[in-house]
Amino acid sequence: MNSNNLDKRYVWHPYTQMKLWNNSDNITVQYGNGFNFIDSNKRRYLDGISNMWCNVWGHDRTEILDSMKNQLDILPHSSLFGLVNEPSAKLAKRLITMAKGMTKVFYSDNGSTAIEAALKIATQYWNNKGKSQKKKFICLKNGYHGDTIGCMSVGYVDGYFSPYKSILLKTIKVDSPTIRHPKFGPQEIEQYVDKIENILKRISSKISGFVMESGAQIAGGVNIYPEGFQKKISDLCKKYDTLLILDEIATGFGRLGNMIEYRAQKSEPDIVCFAKALTGGYFPLAVTLTTSRIFEQFLGDYWDKRQLFHGHTFTGHPVGCAAALTNLDLYERLNLIRKIRLNSLVFDKLLKRFSELEICYDIRNKGMLCGIELRKENKPLKTIGKMPVGHYIAKESLKKGVYLRTLGNILTIIPPLAIGKEDLTKIVDTEYQIVENLQKKLK
Ligand SMILES: Cc1ncc(COP(=O)(O)O)c(C=O)c1O
Repeated sequence: MNSNNLDKRYVWHPYTQMKLWNNSDNITVQYGNGFNFIDSNKRRYLDGISNMWCNVWGHDRTEILDSMKNQLDILPHSSLFGLVNEPSAKLAKRLITMAKGMTKVFYSDNGSTAIEAALKIATQYWNNKGKSQKKKFICLKNGYHGDTIGCMSVGYVDGYFSPYKSILLKTIKVDSPTIRHPKFGPQEIEQYVDKIENILKRISSKISGFVMESGAQIAGGVNIYPEGFQKKISDLCKKYDTLLILDEIATGFGRLGNMIEYRAQKSEPDIVCFAKALTGGYFPLAVTLTTSRIFEQFLGDYWDKRQLFHGHTFTGHPVGCAAALTNLDLYERLNLIRKIRLNSLVFDKLLKRFSELEICYDIRNKGMLCGIELRKENKPLKTIGKMPVGHYIAKESLKKGVYLRTLGNILTIIPPLAIGKEDLTKIVDTEYQIVENLQKKLK
C-alpha cells in the first residue's frame, strides 16, 4: 500500500490544534512491528507511551490475533441485549475471580463509557434504596476519567475542560496528594484526609460516591499517591456510607506493578472500572465491576424500574472479549506482572539521570509509569520559543524514532508493559538527550 498520496484532510484529530496540523508533515502509520510503529516511508518509531497507555505486548502477539480471527470466523458481533455470547460470559467470570469483592461485570467499549456507567449505577443505587438525596460526587483535583460530560464533571482538568465548564455537573473537588512533593509529607496527608472526613461528616447524607483513579492520577500530571492514602479514603467511604468508585482504566493490569491495583492499595471499592490494557490494545473494550451489595438493589419487578437503563450497541463484543481472555491467559502464562516488576527496577535506574538536569524539577515514577515535571526558574516550562514544550518534545522524539506525547510540561514515559530492556533503554536515552538539549537551548 502506498500512502504517500493519501488524502488526510478530513480527519479531525483529538486534542489537536488543527491549524498547526500540517498534513504533509504528519506521519502516516502503516504497520505495527514489535513495539514500533512503521510509517509509509518505512521509518520506525518506538512507542514511548504504549499507544495512549494501552499497549501491552506490542503489535504482533499471535495468540491474541488468532483468538480474534477465530472469533471473527464464528461470531463477529452480537450485543448483550437479550442474548449472551460465550467470550463475554467467560471473561466476566475470569474478571470476577481476579477482582476480589466484585460479583458483576457491565460491559462497554471505552474508558469514558465505563465511568459513565459507574456514575449511573451509583446514582440509581441510591435511588433504588430510597435515598435519592445522595447524588453528589466527591472527586480529587487533577483526576481524569474521560471526555464525556459525566467524566469531565468528576475528572475536571482545567487545562483541558474549561470550555465545557458551564455544562458540567457540580461536584466536590478535594486536593490530591502525590509522592515526593514538598507539599505532601505524611503530616500533610493526614490533614488532607481530615479535610475530606470533615466534608463527609457534614454532608455524607448528600454524597453518592467518591471517585478517584486507583494508585495514581495520570492525565492530571502523573501524581502517584503516597502509601496508605487510598486505603484511608476507602475506610472513610465505609464509615460514611459513601460508594468508593475506583478508576483502574489506566493503572490496572500492571501499569503500577500490580494486576489489580486496588488490592495492592488495600482499598475496597464498590465499583471499579478497567479498560486500556484489558485487550492489550487490540480491541476497544471496557468493564465496570460492582459488588453484590450494589447489584442487588437493581433487582425487582419489571415495572418497578429498578433495572439499569444503560447499554451500548457494542456491549460485550465477542471479538473484544476473546482478545481479553487470551490477553489475560498470556499475563498468567508468561508471568507478566513479575516481568513488569523486574523491568520497573531497570526503568527506575535509567530515570535517575534526569535528576542531573536542572529543568527536571520532579521525577515521579512507579512500575511502568513515569512523569518528569519540567520547570524553569521554578515556573512550569510551557514554551520553547513560541512552541508549546509538548510539541517540541513530541517532534524531537519522532525525529529520533520515538513516539511520545507529554502532558503539558510533564514529560510522560509510559512504555508498553511487556517491553524489553533494550527498547526501554532506547526510549529513556532518547528522551534524556532531548531534555538535555532543551535545557541547553534555554540558557
Ligand atoms: C484514568 C482514566 N480514566 C478514563 C479514561 C478514558 O478512557 P477513554 O479514553 O478510553 O475514554 C482514561 C483515558 O486516558 C484514563 O486515563
